[in-house]
Amino acid sequence: MWDDLRPVGRHEATGGYRRSAWTGTDRTLREWFAGEAAARGMDLTVDRNGNQWAWWGDPDRSERGGRAVVTGSHLDSVPDGGAFDGPLGVVSAFAAVDRLRADGHEPARPVAVVSFADEEGARFGVPCVGSRLLTGVLDPDRARGLRDADGATMADAMRSAGHDPAHLGRDDDTLARIGSYVELHVEQGRALVDQPAAVGVGHGIWPHGRWRLDLRGEANHAGTTRLADRDDPTLRLASAVLAARTAAEQVGAVATVGKVEVAPNSTNAVPSLVRAWLDVRAADEASVRAVVAAVGAAAAADPAEESWSPEVVFDESLRDAVAALLGGAPVLPTAAGHDAGILAAAGVPTAMLFVRNPTGVSHSPAEHAEREDCLAGVDALAAVLADLTGDRQR
Ligand code: GLV
Ligand code: MN
Ligand code: MN
Repeated sequence: MWDDLRPVGRHEATGGYRRSAWTGTDRTLREWFAGEAAARGMDLTVDRNGNQWAWWGDPDRSERGGRAVVTGSHLDSVPDGGAFDGPLGVVSAFAAVDRLRADGHEPARPVAVVSFADEEGARFGVPCVGSRLLTGVLDPDRARGLRDADGATMADAMRSAGHDPAHLGRDDDTLARIGSYVELHVEQGRALVDQPAAVGVGHGIWPHGRWRLDLRGEANHAGTTRLADRDDPTLRLASAVLAARTAAEQVGAVATVGKVEVAPNSTNAVPSLVRAWLDVRAADEASVRAVVAAVGAAAAADPAEESWSPEVVFDESLRDAVAALLGGAPVLPTAAGHDAGILAAAGVPTAMLFVRNPTGVSHSPAEHAEREDCLAGVDALAAVLADLTGDRQR
């Protein structure tokens, strides 16, 4: 599976992956997913919101009346992302199905491998679009109207990728099929590096969000405009970035200005507009809000909220059962967002497994996980799926 995925969307110069939603690269990834499903005789469904599901067993019928045990992740990436964030969960899900079948396991409930659409929100700004639409926390009209950097709407992008955007929105039929969701993901910090464990279990996800700052100024000549006569929005950007750092340090949050657009983007012109995006995360919502307010004050701007993800604590009994099943695996909090968090917030019993990352680096081509640890992840996921699905023969 990795051999097939390795070249898809890989940028030669950076070695990073550029796998934005609803692009040609995304289509190739979708075809790969469909091929993996077909190779295993799993039925493929694509829901109204563009999420792909591969079914082992009838999604609407199960021997003991239980709903499906779903596992998977996403295949899209941030710009110049690593190989593992997302794909490790999908590859491991298929590998776990293979492992269970090789072991002769006959699940008493349906099993699904899912690939959620547009998890990173790299192109249209809002993360976890597929799972947010599925659970109804993202308004379909808003989603359809989101624009990428070239001005294309999400609706247009979906249409040109062959997905009809007319039916986006909360999908009770698909939700009704999900009994529980287990997402395996590469660890995005260093919590497992010094532990004698290749796999950890998620405790919860910090509340986090994204805000846009529109800083307007006046375009003018870089040589002839006296400093005193300028209205230069980059000065307010600089204040905003420094305020983000200071305020985050004060409350124990993390804050990032990772994306900036400058107009007209000319070396010899004072800019007329700076658009900057702020990402803030903390252990509690009040700390996040305090940082956003400080940044807004420093920039003399009103930060526009583009997405908000409340704190998530994963289902306690499932989490403890999974940790126990894995021989007392460490339980870790995370400040990264995941579709698992969206499903958990919608009431789906959800668990996450994290696979050790030797440097902790993520959202970068340097992201890594050792093969041995990835295989331990597959073992762990297979054990969890076997336990949650039960065996028809037993
Ligand atoms: C998703 O990877 C995030 O930004 O947390
Ligand atoms: Mn990510
Ligand atoms: Mn991810």
